[in-house]
Amino acid sequence: MILLDGKKTSNDIKDEITIKVAELKKQGKKTPHLAAIIVGANGASITYVNAKVKACEKVGFDSSLIQLPEDVSEAELLAKIDELNNDDNIDGFIVQLPLPKHIDEHKVTLAVSPAKDVDGFHPENLGRMVLDLPCFLPATPYGIVQLLDRYDIETSGKDCVVIGRSHIVGSPMSILMARNNKVGNCTVTLTHSRTKNLTEYTKKADIIIVALGKAEFLTADMVKEGVVVVDVGITRVKDDSKKSGFRLLGDVKFDEVAPKCSYITPVPGGVGPMTIASLMMNTLQAIDMK
Ligand code: GUN
Repeated sequence: MILLDGKKTSNDIKDEITIKVAELKKQGKKTPHLAAIIVGANGASITYVNAKVKACEKVGFDSSLIQLPEDVSEAELLAKIDELNNDDNIDGFIVQLPLPKHIDEHKVTLAVSPAKDVDGFHPENLGRMVLDLPCFLPATPYGIVQLLDRYDIETSGKDCVVIGRSHIVGSPMSILMARNNKVGNCTVTLTHSRTKNLTEYTKKADIIIVALGKAEFLTADMVKEGVVVVDVGITRVKDDSKKSGFRLLGDVKFDEVAPKCSYITPVPGGVGPMTIASLMMNTLQAIDMK
């Protein structure tokens, strides 16, 4: 069993980006600038956004963190997005999800200029992805593709089962794994909460990508020997022995599934860091596409 080390791979990517940013600066070109909007004080979201800002500093990007109160109106948020869309100094920006209930996430997604949508959530970018046109790929699926690519995992002709059909992970992931690309050419089955006899699919799968948000959902009896498992889950569970008061669990019962795998991502240190590296890659790409 080989661990797919997202932490190391994301550091490799960040080192590559650092060199490119230094070159841009040397040529007197603009320093890439990523902005992040966060609404409210969701603990997990704050952790993720802070990690994104820290990654910007590491690679030499400029970054801006825009914190809006939990009760900000939808109109105020949309006005902020409009401001960033029109700010030439900002190359890309994200609005951290989830948003409070009174704000329509779809309206927010549509309001972000596709040219600055480094999360790759806008329908224009998702549509371009389906058509194999240049676009921003959604950060988590892009990170998974990078990880499989950099470990040279053969995907062509393989049976890939994706568990979970979210708009930001499961659905785009199923499209990327079926594309005619080095990482791709899989026969993909997209499974979800209404799938009957899920184990019948997972047992046959060569590659399983789990993005369900249910701690330790995938168990050893559900997978075959030699499977590649990518775990997108990150559930916080109370743990008084930790300084933070919690520990992170993936969607995979790691201890019993890992011995059956050819490759598996750990949690933490697997997909999570790759998502951030992809965001950095997309921000650099935003400059190229200008
Ligand atoms: N919430 C969970 N994952 C993501 C992500 O990739 N981008 C944003 N903006 N919010 C998220």
